[in-house]
Amino acid sequence: HVILAPNLSSCHKSLSDAGRPVYCCPPKPESLEPIIDFKFPDISEPIKVRKPAHMVDADYIAKYNKAITIMISLPYDDPRNFMRQANMHCIYCTGAYNQQNSNSLLKIHRSWMFFPWHRMIIYFHERILGSLIGDENFALPFWNWDSPEGMFIPDMYLYGSMVDTQRDSSHLPPRVADLYYDYHERGLGTVDQISTNLAFMYNQMVSGAKKTELFMGCPYKAGKKGFCDGPGTIERAPHNALHSWVGSNLNPEREDMGAFYSAARDPIFYAHHANIDRLWNVWNELRGDKTTIEDPDWLDTTFYIHNEKSQLVRIKIRDVVDSSKLKYAYENVENVWLNARP
Ligand code: C2O
Repeated sequence: HVILAPNLSSCHKSLSDAGRPVYCCPPKPESLEPIIDFKFPDISEPIKVRKPAHMVDADYIAKYNKAITIMISLPYDDPRNFMRQANMHCIYCTGAYNQQNSNSLLKIHRSWMFFPWHRMIIYFHERILGSLIGDENFALPFWNWDSPEGMFIPDMYLYGSMVDTQRDSSHLPPRVADLYYDYHERGLGTVDQISTNLAFMYNQMVSGAKKTELFMGCPYKAGKKGFCDGPGTIERAPHNALHSWVGSNLNPEREDMGAFYSAARDPIFYAHHANIDRLWNVWNELRGDKTTIEDPDWLDTTFYIHNEKSQLVRIKIRDVVDSSKLKYAYENVENVWLNARP
């Protein structure tokens, strides 16, 4: 019985969202590396608490800057290198791998792989950053764009190694984010944009997400016949919308953030996805036990990602379904949109 997993020796040139050729494969085929099975972090490990990016202090920002600077300076041969990390996203998002036992491409967007795959990638990214500065407590920040104070590009991304020059300069603060941006400027004032954003969040999290598939995305299975294209509410927007909104209007695909192949070159990518990851938990809490996907095809879907020791890890969706086993947590914030039922 075939499960969805990449064929590691199949990495090949792939296509950007607009159909331009891109190449993001590792310098040496990963199929030559030894593979270890994922293990949960040790029970004695401290819980890393992810905080809203607009509320972190100067010490934290300095630490994070230092970690990113080291990450950027590692040779490209090192899987912990910043560009290698960004290219992992490119590989899995543009379909640079074929599936195992099939020549179908493996793409992790627009289906039920979206939440778990991104949870994995930022989990390892966070642990690599922490290990580069010897800080077991290091946690990624989350871009709290669903709260009124967080609906701006957080200041910490405007300085030092957090800067990406490939952003839309008209969307830098004090411009409020448009959570359902569709490549056109909506032209709303700050107050109106914030209140429509909150109503939109209510729809994506509550009224429009009452069935598991509506929130999680369609059930993508192995092989050609298993293909599906149906992103969940949050993936469509704010997720996709904010990718485009942040990326530069001067680039053909609004790179960096605006295109899958380049999105993870912007450090804000990880905070964006930390918030998505947090909202997955929030939705689970809101829905209670009605959310569990028991399909083994989903639970056993397998990926390979490098850990903080540069070991290639075989990890399954079932390993990340319960984030509390992964030794990170989110600082409690008020989900203001819960009271914004339109
Ligand atoms: Cu894999 Cu936010 O995209």
